Amino acid sequence: MPTPWRLAAFAALLALAAPAHAIGQTTCVAFKSASATFPVVSAGRAAPIFLADDDWPGVQRAAQDFAADIERVTGVKPSLANRTATATAKASNAIIVGTLGRSALVDAVVNNTGLDVSSVQGNWEAFLAKEVKNPLPGIDSAYVLIGADKRGTIFSMYDHSEQFGVSPWYWWADVPTTKHSELFVTSSGCSHGSPSVKYRGIFLNDEQPALQNWAMEKFTNGTGAALTGSPFNHLFYTKLYELLLRLKANYLWPAQWSSAFAVDDHLNQVFADWYGIAMGTSHEEPMTRSTPVEWNLFGTGPWDYGVNADAIYNFWVNGTERAAPYENVYTMGMRGAGDLPLSEGENIQLLEKVISDQRGILSNVFNTSDVTTIPQMWCLYKEVEGFYDDGMRVPDDITLLWTDDNWGNIRRFPTVAERNRTGGAGVYYHFDYVGDPRDFKWITSTQISKTYEEMSLAIDREATRIWIVNVGDLKPYEMDIEFFITYGWNSSIWDRNNVASFVNSWAEREFDMSAKDAATVSDILANVTRFNARRKPELLNSTVYSLVNYREAETMLSEWQSLNATATKLFDSVSADKQGAFFQLVLHPVQASATLATMWIFAGINNLRASQARLSANGFKDSVEALFEADYALEEQYHSILGGKWDHMMDQTHVGYVYWQQPMQNSMPAVTKVQAKKQALPGPMRIVPEGTLGAWPGDNMNDCAAMYSCGPPTLTLDPFVPFGNRFVDVGAAGPAPFAFSVSSNVSWLTIEPSSGSVSPSSPETRVFISVDWSKVTGVEFANINFVANATGQPTSAQNAFFVANKTAVPAGFKGFVEGDGGISIEAAHTSRNTTVAGITWVELPGYGRTLSGITPWPRGGNELNFTAGTGPHVEYDFMLFNTIGSAGNVTVHTQVAPTLNNYDPTRPVALAVSVDGIAPVTTYFFPAAAPGSLPPQWDGTDGFVANSFIDVPNNFSLAPGPHTLKVWMVEPTVVVQKIIIDTGGVRQSYLGPPESIRV
Ligand SMILES: *[C@@H]1O[C@H](CO)[C@@H](O)[C@H](O)[C@H]1NC(C)=O
Repeated sequence: MPTPWRLAAFAALLALAAPAHAIGQTTCVAFKSASATFPVVSAGRAAPIFLADDDWPGVQRAAQDFAADIERVTGVKPSLANRTATATAKASNAIIVGTLGRSALVDAVVNNTGLDVSSVQGNWEAFLAKEVKNPLPGIDSAYVLIGADKRGTIFSMYDHSEQFGVSPWYWWADVPTTKHSELFVTSSGCSHGSPSVKYRGIFLNDEQPALQNWAMEKFTNGTGAALTGSPFNHLFYTKLYELLLRLKANYLWPAQWSSAFAVDDHLNQVFADWYGIAMGTSHEEPMTRSTPVEWNLFGTGPWDYGVNADAIYNFWVNGTERAAPYENVYTMGMRGAGDLPLSEGENIQLLEKVISDQRGILSNVFNTSDVTTIPQMWCLYKEVEGFYDDGMRVPDDITLLWTDDNWGNIRRFPTVAERNRTGGAGVYYHFDYVGDPRDFKWITSTQISKTYEEMSLAIDREATRIWIVNVGDLKPYEMDIEFFITYGWNSSIWDRNNVASFVNSWAEREFDMSAKDAATVSDILANVTRFNARRKPELLNSTVYSLVNYREAETMLSEWQSLNATATKLFDSVSADKQGAFFQLVLHPVQASATLATMWIFAGINNLRASQARLSANGFKDSVEALFEADYALEEQYHSILGGKWDHMMDQTHVGYVYWQQPMQNSMPAVTKVQAKKQALPGPMRIVPEGTLGAWPGDNMNDCAAMYSCGPPTLTLDPFVPFGNRFVDVGAAGPAPFAFSVSSNVSWLTIEPSSGSVSPSSPETRVFISVDWSKVTGVEFANINFVANATGQPTSAQNAFFVANKTAVPAGFKGFVEGDGGISIEAAHTSRNTTVAGITWVELPGYGRTLSGITPWPRGGNELNFTAGTGPHVEYDFMLFNTIGSAGNVTVHTQVAPTLNNYDPTRPVALAVSVDGIAPVTTYFFPAAAPGSLPPQWDGTDGFVANSFIDVPNNFSLAPGPHTLKVWMVEPTVVVQKIIIDTGGVRQSYLGPPESIRV
């Protein structure tokens, strides 16, 4: 359970020589002198930083951060001054920062030195940095940081700051800066071209309760803005702008639900531009005005362009005039009030008029007949995508912002024909969501492998003009956000095989830790996000993971437990000054998720054991209650660290959902209690074999079909059951302690332990039963007898039958072998893999619910597809002993990721499956739906996104013996995770049976 927080005494250690941290980027920073290095700080002296007074104010401001960052690292603050090109004051070494064509100083340096700036000139946000000799009168040598434009220059400085050791999250996640007395840059410097994605940003959304309550306490006197009560003033936003720029983001949709960005604090807008952030508004807030908050304050009449066009038009004129002095991407179009679909009767024609009027406003306000150079975006969210599908089009220069399904599956990408629009396309993505089938806004639950898989498709299909991600309260999605932005900054350095190494690099930077420890952090975060993505924590209940089949719930428990142990151990080993960051970024997500998940499983065990008349049910009730309190203690711990800096940031409720919306209070899962002072009717002992909800002796509705007077239980085992044994729990049925013994009538069974004692203080013993297969031929039967002796009671006994079914694989067979009623295969474990037209099924490491996924690769831009049986395919050899009901049929369940029909609507996702020479069967597994909507199977607490996979079943007539299963590419982007062949014995579980034995 939670490790008590130890207050971090600041104890910065002086690291001597460590590598610079730059995630995925080339490094140009060193902490000791070498040949061809330039001293930023050496022997206690810092090189002065020179700027031009005519450069962008945002560059001037960022330079203050740059100087402060150098001081954070070295303790020496460099001087920062404007200088003219003709000044002659002596400086042997100087740092010169400026924007090409904007800074007279930098233009003079380029002139004087002949520095080749062709690689950056005119390129959006590009920069270069290097050492030049005799750049200006009086300066012998200078390290110049030159941006192609305002943000290019700003990013050049923050890029170096990060490598110096100042994390972008130094304030937002309290990442300490490692101290170095000496700081150098290489003479050849660092440079970067234009980013892969032009606008990269985040959306603060559904910010109540956490972000809003926190900001209210930290940035206001508790009252908020005059008209709205919003706490999101410029004190808050300037912290955020700085973070975004340090991450190399440039775009923001501000908090909106009870805030009005430009009204709450007029400096919000001014400072965004000054810092260098291009502001947008969300998909449902056209023309840079908050909706509904501002409309409710200043609008008159209904938010309905069909009946109230004049008022809405003027509302937008005011918003546009207000925003015009600053950098914006204008949101075009409109949705209905409250982010709901436009009301019935509001149709394409109306929306076309809306956009044409909005273009007219831009033309008037900017006094131009050409509005195509003003950045504009039309977000195809939910029903609006339907309008597009129904044929609505907007002018070519407006960026089409495609969206995901709010659950990380992108609904649609540009087709080849759509890719040459001048406005291009983008993606609106979600790490946090409020809506069907359930809100998820508590804790990190998105796998980096999934974000990579989806956003790399956006790269392939050229949806790269705008990437924006809904990040809820911002925390605790720090790493998710950084990956999203970093990938958009330079997609070329990340691929399916190295994407996990992003987390390693991130951990090395945040905690200045060894590669080995960073790899552990990477594993921890891969697991916590995998477990939370299998099923969002908000969708857990006490029976999600099977309590009886495949040891599923207990495997989940032990995985959480070991994750918690690993994270706690690492937390204990990091220095005190890093524990605040480590707690926020690693330990808390693990402990909070583990506590919640454990509580749910324990509640399930409590309910089940009570129904089985087992005294041990009561201990689980106590544990659930303790975990419920531990859950709140973790919330308080988060709120109390670092002197209460993050008070309220974990206010989000997360347990006790009854419908999609967050509960108004956390409430504990239902638990029950058995009467501990009274003995159950059938005597002192309970016998519960693995794999059943029933219990013996006595009646239980799950013991047999008749539900009473049932016979003894039967256990079966074959040599290919992955666990290799079965167990029977021997439990107390009341207050009477008893001694028990277990015996059988055969020599080939091993029973461990074969005797023991059970009492209220130790109310359960697990007895494992295994088979010596060398002594068994074919099917053999045994009788097992459980005998209990309780003081003062007659001997109590219960027998069970055991069936040993010895199956054998023919010599020479290689592949998966049926065991326990079926075959379970991780998709990556192929027998053969056939390439067609240069396309091969490849593994996406770390992807999905269990091991990984496989998908046809490369996906490319031309989107080849194949008829069933002609495309790239993978093969799996398997050995069958049984068929369903011995009738000669098996069902093959191919488990695929919930990929939507994300290409041309006429090209739905599909794959084909065949066995041996049987003609492949194509399945279009994502059902069609009305334009702009999703099919009912997507929704619900047992639907595609809740379960995080889609089952594709196919039946085949097969005889026992060896076979080969083939999975064929039909359409691209399908991700296969797992294959389950049911031969009649596959039982209910959440993740499917564990992988079968492969010989
Ligand atoms: C440089 O000049 C600009 C414009 O006058 C001014 O705003 C800025 O504060 C000056 N910077 C320094 C470091 O003096």
